Amino acid sequence: MWRNSQHSYGLIQILLHWTTAILVTGMFALGIYMVDLGYYDPWYHRAPALHKSVGLLVIGLFLFRLVWRFGDPQPEPLGVNPWSRKAAGGMHLLLYLGLFALLASGYLIASADGRSIPVFDVFSVPALTLPVENQEELAGDVHEVTAWSLMVLAVLHGAAALKHRFIDKDASLARMLWPRRD
Ligand code: HEM
Ligand code: HEM
Repeated sequence: MWRNSQHSYGLIQILLHWTTAILVTGMFALGIYMVDLGYYDPWYHRAPALHKSVGLLVIGLFLFRLVWRFGDPQPEPLGVNPWSRKAAGGMHLLLYLGLFALLASGYLIASADGRSIPVFDVFSVPALTLPVENQEELAGDVHEVTAWSLMVLAVLHGAAALKHRFIDKDASLARMLWPRRD
């Protein structure tokens, strides 16, 4: 039930997948909204604080997901077409790389002033300053580009999942929704 089996995803990986997908999509909308707020808007300070707090939680989830993935072998890919198996594997790798670049660049923007980053005023995460002058701008550019790129990839990936469900009529979406018996 909790762990993956030869043909199915376990509950932990399913929960990690959907929690991350929902948080990343919400964070994208929040990011776009907050960069256009005026100084006198009540959300001018609150929205970035929320974005950074949730972002650091997503980093925690991402690290846990990587560790979990190494300890819990993936189910076998579905389908017999080797091209489609390779495309799915490549897309999953790109999603992981995109997530990594997005989260790392967000953390580096928030670190640029050298102060630790509060998470919902409950605890703080130490900052990481690099030996470059314009860390905030550089990381900001990478963050913006990776946020848009990841959203495009996620839409293509979601569309592929729907194609598998409604055109190929295979179990790939079902096995990412609930653990199944092999
Ligand atoms: C969870 C995934 C994340 C998504 C989808 C996301 C998305 C975005 C987007 C779309 C923007 C607006 C970019 C622009 O138009 O300039 C933004 C800005 C920002 N993000 Fe994120 N972000 C994420 C994670 C993080 C994390 C982990 C942090 C830091 C801990 C962070 C810190 C920031 C900051 C400080 C800005 C403001 C940059 C500026 O003022 O130009 N983000 N984010
Ligand atoms: C930001 C959004 C998303 C991200 C970052 C993401 C990421 C991933 C990753 C990395 C995998 C590989 C398995 C793993 O390591 O967990 C995966 C699998 C999967 N995703 Fe997503 N995903 C997102 C959104 C979606 C959406 C919207 C759908 C459906 C409409 C979807 C459906 C699936 C399915 C069905 C699989 C399993 C494929 C298989 O049979 O192996 N994902 N996703």
